[in-house]
Amino acid sequence: KEEHFKKVVSHAKEYGFIFGSSEIYDGLNAVYDYAQNGVLLKNNIREYWWKSMVQMHQNIVGLDAAILMHPTTWKASGHVDAFNDPLIDNKDSKKRYRADVLVEDYAEKLHQKALKEIEKAKKRFGDAFDEAQFVETNERVIRYRTQQKEIVQRLAKSLEKEDLADVKALIEELEIADPLTGSKNWTDVKQFNLMFGTKLGASADKATDLYLRPETAQGIFVNFLNVQKTGRMKIPFGIAQTGKAFRNEIVARQFIFRMREFEQMEMQYFVRPGDELKWYEYWKEVRYNWHLSLGLGKENYRFHDHEKLAHYANAATDIEFDFPFGFKELEGIHSRTDFDLKAHEEFSGKKLQFFDPELNKSYVPYVIETSIGLDRMFLAVFSRALEEETLEDGSTRLVLKIPAVIAPTKAAVLPLIKKDGLPEIAEKIIEELQWDFQVSYDEKDAIGKRYRRQDAIGTPFCITVDHDTKTDNKVTIRHRDSMNQERVAIENLSEIIGKQVAI
Ligand code: GAP
Repeated sequence: KEEHFKKVVSHAKEYGFIFGSSEIYDGLNAVYDYAQNGVLLKNNIREYWWKSMVQMHQNIVGLDAAILMHPTTWKASGHVDAFNDPLIDNKDSKKRYRADVLVEDYAEKLHQKALKEIEKAKKRFGDAFDEAQFVETNERVIRYRTQQKEIVQRLAKSLEKEDLADVKALIEELEIADPLTGSKNWTDVKQFNLMFGTKLGASADKATDLYLRPETAQGIFVNFLNVQKTGRMKIPFGIAQTGKAFRNEIVARQFIFRMREFEQMEMQYFVRPGDELKWYEYWKEVRYNWHLSLGLGKENYRFHDHEKLAHYANAATDIEFDFPFGFKELEGIHSRTDFDLKAHEEFSGKKLQFFDPELNKSYVPYVIETSIGLDRMFLAVFSRALEEETLEDGSTRLVLKIPAVIAPTKAAVLPLIKKDGLPEIAEKIIEELQWDFQVSYDEKDAIGKRYRRQDAIGTPFCITVDHDTKTDNKVTIRHRDSMNQERVAIENLSEIIGKQVAI
């Protein structure tokens, strides 16, 4: 798995999907740029989400709120007081770490040790190995597992109670060392706010302190009544938005999984109080099916229901995806009650209520939220799509089996050779197709090499123009995944491609 992850990262760079930000200056940690192919894939995922949420639901409308918002927004939402990570510094190395991650990494090491014992035994006993029995009876495995569980539980409890002294005590008891220098000389644990600050206005004394939004959701809450009134929306209804969010993540690792500048796709669904759990179940199912519709494999998704709920929620779940580093959160579905709207009422002094004609009364609606990171979705698709296939003749090919609906380039048009009028025919085909699809032209190198180049960037169709095309007006379509080829009329190309890639 680790090997695969390395391949994913290097493939993303080598084939023009993702570059580190400002690389010529040695980059900026955990900030990334989407390159020529990456931006197409990212746009397509966003559009796939947008259409399924806004276009396919008559009672959901869109919004594009500003990144900068009135600073009181973040007091009301709780982000000023409670959007923190526990940090610890090493006194010798002067390096800063997330305290909870240090402990989690230690627990993970115990887990790995247990796995190693199991692997060793598997090799030793071969077919006769009974894993369940071994895990139950082997002392070392039992010890590693129990220790790991106890550590994780104690950490969760101390974090919940904000008992930072206990988090530090845990680090000391476990004798956790600075991963880089080995020093065990730690400071106390302190809370660190994750919001990025900035200033509005030029003159230093009058400038207002602002934050870059850490989630897009608050732009929806503060516009709730504007949209409801001008759109004459009736409950239940939703507001959907995609856009950048910023978090000063201290442990920013695992490539685009956790970034400092990232994009969210969020939808807030406003419902009658008391109906929220029914809609929560509804959105769990709708969002799960959206993921399955891409065909990346049902076994790669699972729900993780939260036992510990945030102060504003009365139900919450994550849709987790099997990333190259294991199952991790991809999307959150939260029943946020009336917490946000009520808080904004309180802080702004304005009513944020809906008059329900059926009940003949006004109330602050309850909210179900679906929130997915666009970059995480990109990583989910990209890491599952990348395959190194061994072909019948023993050779290998690198192929990105990105679902055709979101593939960056839909078709490449390739003249078999660079003369005899074939490039001109190819250009003509491009001129036709580019009105409807992202298509590209390639005439360099042998045809087989060109197919492989398109495989590696996930192009579902290669269209080859050969000498017969001049007389029969037909071309060869080669399918990326099966590598099957078929002869079709040029005039049917648009329909054939359209059927496969329509969102
Ligand atoms: N409005 C709710 C909210 O923001 P969240 O669980 O903090 O909830 C929602 O974030 C989603 O945003 C996550 O499931 C994840 O996909 C994405 N996300 C959060 N932090 C991220 C980061 N630092 N980098 C990339 N994606 C992130």
